[in-house]
Amino acid sequence: MDIQRREPSRRPIPNYQEIILNKKDFIVSRTDLKGYITYANDYFIEICEYDKEELMGVNHNIIRHPDMPRIIFKVLWDRIKGGDKVFAFVKNLTKTGKFYWVLAEVEPAKKNGEIIGYYSFRVRAPRYALKEISEVYKMLLEAEEGGGMKASKEALDDFLDTKKLTYDEYVQRLFKRGFGLRGFLRGFGNIFR
Ligand SMILES: Cc1cc2nc3c(=O)[nH]c(=O)nc-3n(C[C@H](O)[C@H](O)[C@H](O)COP(=O)(O)O)c2cc1C
Repeated sequence: MDIQRREPSRRPIPNYQEIILNKKDFIVSRTDLKGYITYANDYFIEICEYDKEELMGVNHNIIRHPDMPRIIFKVLWDRIKGGDKVFAFVKNLTKTGKFYWVLAEVEPAKKNGEIIGYYSFRVRAPRYALKEISEVYKMLLEAEEGGGMKASKEALDDFLDTKKLTYDEYVQRLFKRGFGLRGFLRGFGNIFR
């Protein structure tokens, strides 16, 4: 996957206006091994407010929102680099500074067993999950601001220990809670397999 890597020309300032995604549409992107965007579907382009040309070849962190704790991206990268897929709730930043929440599945693209890039499918994050996840991320961000990623890792591990879940399991539980397992399998299971 050859693509000319480049830096975005500017970083938007968050204005805390929310974009609510359509229930039935999903956002898809692909990246190279370092997370530089090689493909974006039409809905991604519409929601993030960048043109296709602005997205191609820039790092996926172009839509990183400052409210996202760094430890969540570390968990994500550790999992996908290890060859596994991961589920995560992610708050993203659009070109004009708005935000939108997704439930993302990120996974490696493999050829002959070798990782050649990554891709991600995302759906609208359910409202009931956002109340809880926003508080968890706020707690992690505060830990990070005080003591860096070491502190936020400890805070995340402590939180997940009390639930006896991995981050990935926690995310899937939270997502499934509102739909019930049958609704999950019927509604989104075919997107996320
Ligand atoms: C396939 C794929 C999809 C990604 N999607 C997002 C995303 O939607 N939002 C985001 O902030 N980071 C996403 N990332 C992670 C970014 O590459 C990056 O690690 C993250 O934004 C943190 O940026 P930073 O390391 O510069 O702080 C994705 C990575 C991959 C491999």
